[in-house]
Amino acid sequence: MKRSVEILTGCVLLVLASGCSELTGMDAVPEDIVTSGAVDQTQTPIVGGQDATPGSRPYQVSVQRFGGHWCGGALLTDTWVLTAKHCLGGTLKVRVGVHRLSSSEGQIISLVQTESHPQMDIALLRLSSPASPDYTPLELPTQEVMSGPAAPGETVEVSGWGDTSEGGRGSDVLQEVAVPVVSNSTCNAPQAYNGRIEDSEICAGFAEGGKDSCQGDSGGPLVVDFQGKTYSVGVVSWGEGCARPNKYGVYARTISAKGWIEGHIGSGPPPPDPNSCVANNACGGRAPGGCYCDSVCERYGDCCSDGPC
Ligand code: ARG
Repeated sequence: MKRSVEILTGCVLLVLASGCSELTGMDAVPEDIVTSGAVDQTQTPIVGGQDATPGSRPYQVSVQRFGGHWCGGALLTDTWVLTAKHCLGGTLKVRVGVHRLSSSEGQIISLVQTESHPQMDIALLRLSSPASPDYTPLELPTQEVMSGPAAPGETVEVSGWGDTSEGGRGSDVLQEVAVPVVSNSTCNAPQAYNGRIEDSEICAGFAEGGKDSCQGDSGGPLVVDFQGKTYSVGVVSWGEGCARPNKYGVYARTISAKGWIEGHIGSGPPPPDPNSCVANNACGGRAPGGCYCDSVCERYGDCCSDGPC
């Protein structure tokens, strides 16, 4: 409860202060600024990060609203995007394969389904058509990843087009920053979040601050590379300000939602039906389980789930 109030309040305040890049920045200030090269290069990117190498984060998407950048997200398959629940609202689209928002690169794809997690700040967006296979999805994390390369003290990375300083504005070019994972006990210390971090969240950042995700990065991916694959470790969720000392970035812990995510996106192709006509080469006859098969090898009716045909 407290959490969602905080997120919502943060967004409302940002709207009022016109500091919400997702509402004002990229939408209100399109093409001309950026194509003329007048992007402010003096600010430190994401906060304290750097330009991503074009194409190096092929899972990263921009969740769009009002025709511009609104939140981050990441492909989990060619049709499912992982983002933050607090990014939902209005008509959203997903832009895949984009590095510079002011360019025309990538594909903008509408949605056919959104699912929000009952407890966590996590949502899934289903695309109306699959993203190009050029855009490699993220892997869901395993316990091994979480207790190895994504354990407290290890370095993970976050990327997005969000504000490059607290109260600042978003970036036209995708930004990335490397931050260490912080244990929940450190993140719950009195000088940090004083008990407000839940087990289903994960913190990352430096005690001295300086590097962090920020407004407009929400929903975006916190990732780690391991054995040639890139894993989703967290989803940008909230923080007190951005990059402040002891106020680590707070992320929804992907592994805590893994079952829920898999339930929606399916974990690979459905298992073969042992009673299928095709698998049993039973066209025009009967398959195991008593099912009738027609001449083109379709089963009659729904016999195998409804009992004997
Ligand atoms: N809630 C923010 C958004 O909507 C993300 C905040 C992340 N903050 C942080 N300090 N890491 O974009």
